[in-house]
Amino acid sequence: MHHFHYRDEELHCEEVPLRAIAEAVGTPCYVYSTATMTRHVRVIAEAFTDIASLIAYSVKANGNLAVLATLARLGCGADVVSGGELKRARAAGIAGERIVFSGVGKTRDDMALALSEGIHQFNVESAGELRALSQVASAMGRDAPVALRVNPDVAAGGHPNISTGKSGDKFGVPWHETRDLYALAAQLPGIHVSGVDVHIGSQIGDLAPMRAAFEKTVDLTRELRERGHPITRIDVGGGLAIPYRDGDTPAPPSAYAGMIREVVGDLDVEVILEPGRVIMGNAGVMLSQALYLKDAPDRTFLILDAGMNDLMRPALYEAHHDVWPLAAPRADTALKSYDIVGPICESTDKFAARREMREVRPGDRLAFMSAGAYGAVLSSQYNARPLVAEILVDGDRFDIVRRRPIFEEMLQLEDLPDWLT
Ligand code: LLP
Repeated sequence: MHHFHYRDEELHCEEVPLRAIAEAVGTPCYVYSTATMTRHVRVIAEAFTDIASLIAYSVKANGNLAVLATLARLGCGADVVSGGELKRARAAGIAGERIVFSGVGKTRDDMALALSEGIHQFNVESAGELRALSQVASAMGRDAPVALRVNPDVAAGGHPNISTGKSGDKFGVPWHETRDLYALAAQLPGIHVSGVDVHIGSQIGDLAPMRAAFEKTVDLTRELRERGHPITRIDVGGGLAIPYRDGDTPAPPSAYAGMIREVVGDLDVEVILEPGRVIMGNAGVMLSQALYLKDAPDRTFLILDAGMNDLMRPALYEAHHDVWPLAAPRADTALKSYDIVGPICESTDKFAARREMREVRPGDRLAFMSAGAYGAVLSSQYNARPLVAEILVDGDRFDIVRRRPIFEEMLQLEDLPDWLT
């Protein structure tokens, strides 16, 4: 469900024609819908009303400050994986006690920052990290609230590049070591163990693998309690899939919540959620303009002004994004097949192969749909291209929430050594 629709022959985001944004800001750029974000947060919150829960939005999906500020106002906390994401969440007005800190490679500086911000929970992934956190917290005279992220050895079923819950993955504490690590955590100074955390992957449309992982987690929680560990929280991670094209029917948040309610039963825990894509994915699009058409013997290349540096997902995961024209296509225009590519000097700079769509001409503007999550956050300046701009729409107004840098700013961090000046 989203708020991008055709009206008066033009694709709109809420009340704003995307053409107006493309004209004002140029392409490529990302456009986010406040109404869509709001709806998604409400749907999740409503699904979990009768469960004590914290929605810790996963900042990695889209860490734009205006996006975070919007979500903060909707009551979201944050799931962060670096000191930088923690600072972003705080700058957007998310209170420390609504922030959980995930990730396999937290630095001691990150830990100290998070402790001074009084975060809700550290999701710890190894013995080494646990000892480091114990030292940092003790030195600061604090107690770090900790959940151990366990690796349940469950295959998520999605793309292997975004699957995290099998024993060969770098994520989580190996299942056979979890009890020992909880025992260690109970002894270490500066550590207060209160939770179990699990996250098996992303874009998971089928609830069965999640249920399998959560059932193991709930069993483990009961066992840990019997061993005297005061577990009061279960962090179920993120991972819910979204529809990327017609016919995709991933499990909705209501079914997900129902499954969690069933599995958690009468355990009496706070459930922490770390949704990312399900909030932001369909709340954003990337706008681009067609530069050239190039005919090869067996195909036609549609060359755009956006490249893999602006939207990495197709190159990284062979991900599908629908591509819609900003001007509604006339029904009598011919259907054509295109290989949609960008200007980057890499063969993987390809958004789609043999995509059937109404004829596109140079100068036409296009929207890559469902690009609000893992879009702009993954962008780079490869080929010395300026970072893509980001725009937030709210009703009939829009604003640039990350402007495109000018070339001089791109050079600002670089310096010539003495011997080259
Ligand atoms: N929690 C943890 C510990 C995570 O690692 C992730 C995502 C999330 C929550 C949020 O998951 P979500 O609800 O968004 O599925 N770049 C890839 C996705 C990488 C996901 C990384 N971790 C893509 O574009 O598909």
